[in-house]
Amino acid sequence: EGKIAIAIDGPAAAGKSTVAKLVAKKLTYIYVDTGAMYRALTLKAIKQHVSLESEADLAALLTSTTIELKQSENGQKVYLDQQDVTVDIRSLEVTNNVSYVAKHASVRKDMVKRQQALTEKRGVVMDGRDIGTHVIPDAEVKIFLHATVEERAKRRHEENISKGFNSNIEELKEEIKQRDLIDTKRESAPLIKAEDAVEIDTTSLSIDDVARQILSEALNVL
Ligand code: C5P
Repeated sequence: EGKIAIAIDGPAAAGKSTVAKLVAKKLTYIYVDTGAMYRALTLKAIKQHVSLESEADLAALLTSTTIELKQSENGQKVYLDQQDVTVDIRSLEVTNNVSYVAKHASVRKDMVKRQQALTEKRGVVMDGRDIGTHVIPDAEVKIFLHATVEERAKRRHEENISKGFNSNIEELKEEIKQRDLIDTKRESAPLIKAEDAVEIDTTSLSIDDVARQILSEALNVL
């Protein structure tokens, strides 16, 4: 039987990457974290003091940048110009700036082209904000995940604590709200549910419940 593409979109910290990884593993598909690509460019721009407001400078920076997502034994690794930045792209500084980079149309155009090149052969689970609407508009399965901001902040908080990081739930809530606001209000490919996406409210669901629902959507079309 043929392979399909599964597009998973939704607001920040809705559990997209966790379930996307699970679903990809079950189907032995490739998982593509498109947020990691925007984060990698943001990290490089900050390091090189490129203004996050300059669309032209960011687009030029991206042209001379390689971003690779590689599967390893300990999960997916992100390489920026051949350097492992898997940990660095999760910093608070990158998190709080990435939406300013991602709002520029010419940055998105280049990113979408790179992402589409990864979906040609199908067999892919891709998560982000515009996957069902722009990157893979013909995806066989489209999912829109959401949860209350309180629940999303709580999950991120527990994750931080379990990793031994400092964490403040109120700060997390503000950071998530701010990122969602910028991602939803931007002109270019804003965060929105694709018309034909299946909406899942994960507020009171477990990761396994959500993965099961997505897998059953996939099995319907496989
Ligand atoms: O998924 P993650 O939270 O890592 O994404 C970081 C940011 O990258 C988002 O808040 C958004 O600004 C941007 N992004 C995007 N389009 C995507 C994926 C991520 O604009 N497809």
